Amino acid sequence: MKMFQGLVLGIETSCDETAVAVVDETGRILANVLDSQVDVHARYGGVVPELASRRHMECLENLTKEALKQAQISISQLKGLAVTNGPGLVGALIVGVNFGKSMAYARRLPLVAVNHLEGHLASAWLADPDFPFPALVLIASGGHTHLALVSEPGTYQFVGWTIDDAAGEAFDKGAKMLGLPYPGGPAIETLSLEGSSKAIAFPRPNFHSQDLLFSFSGLKTALLYYLRDTSRNGGGQASREDIAASYQEAIVDVLCEKLFRGASQYSTCGVSVVGGVAANSRLREKVFDRAQAQGLSVVLPPRSLCTDNAAMIAAAGIQKLRKSELATWDMEVFSTLQWKNFLRSQVG
Ligand code: KG4
Ligand code: ZN
Repeated sequence: MKMFQGLVLGIETSCDETAVAVVDETGRILANVLDSQVDVHARYGGVVPELASRRHMECLENLTKEALKQAQISISQLKGLAVTNGPGLVGALIVGVNFGKSMAYARRLPLVAVNHLEGHLASAWLADPDFPFPALVLIASGGHTHLALVSEPGTYQFVGWTIDDAAGEAFDKGAKMLGLPYPGGPAIETLSLEGSSKAIAFPRPNFHSQDLLFSFSGLKTALLYYLRDTSRNGGGQASREDIAASYQEAIVDVLCEKLFRGASQYSTCGVSVVGGVAANSRLREKVFDRAQAQGLSVVLPPRSLCTDNAAMIAAAGIQKLRKSELATWDMEVFSTLQWKNFLRSQVG
């Protein structure tokens, strides 16, 4: 593998966060800045694609200047540029990709295209460069829930995934039903702190099946029915804190069970959880305890590297620069994942 040395600028605009970072070839983060659009989308209860693209356009240039300033470098010191080109909102991705292409062209920098999920995977090695291989990494975010069997940096296969909603989606939709603000994950987590996770026995879909497939839509429906039936019967409804804690526990239980089942099936040395949902304290606690009990290495990246950020994009970009996997000027954006990285036997 070719040695790559130098500073890489990462750009992330796949959804509702504009992010720019500077990372060196050892994984040291010199700058990691972002503009969150939570306030822009909160009143709509979810991300409005058109508004997301516009805000990315407004922020990207200034954020890039801010990242260079925070890293205390000039633009001429960069040795590469990495930009997310999917999956995500097409309009939002186009803003970042065209900004990256223009900058790479103007500054004659090598440009790499980064898959957003490969970025999340890279956050485990940003957090711990000694994290051992093979490892099973759970990517749990707003749009994705995947188990990736990683054999070396940048080389992986999806061995598990959701057949309907993503874990973050289950948090967001559940929060909406409980009248909590967007994004729902942090809101449910905060409310849960005051509640009992044993108050309501919500279902754990697919928990006992031997496969590594997740399903969250039934759980979401169970919450809907619980709220409808208990309010119809007048009384008998548990407190919102108890409902939130019980609902969170059901999601966390399933995520944890499949992660460790997969780790055992593939005899991995370590496990990790990345993506926005990995910021959840209950999930972190359960994964950590179980990994300790089973003698597995575990990496739980700091929360700032779990939710969307550009340091993870730069880190994944460095892995590609090492392999000279450069993008071409006709690089396109894509909204959904292709099937090439999925384990066929599981696809069915
Ligand atoms: O990775 P991410 O920032 O963006 C995507 O790639 O989707 O993940 C966002 C998701 C949202 O669904 C949000 O509700 C969830 O991560 N999330 C959490 C927490 N923080 C963010 N879910 C549970 N607990 C949290 N503390
Ligand atoms: Zn993400």
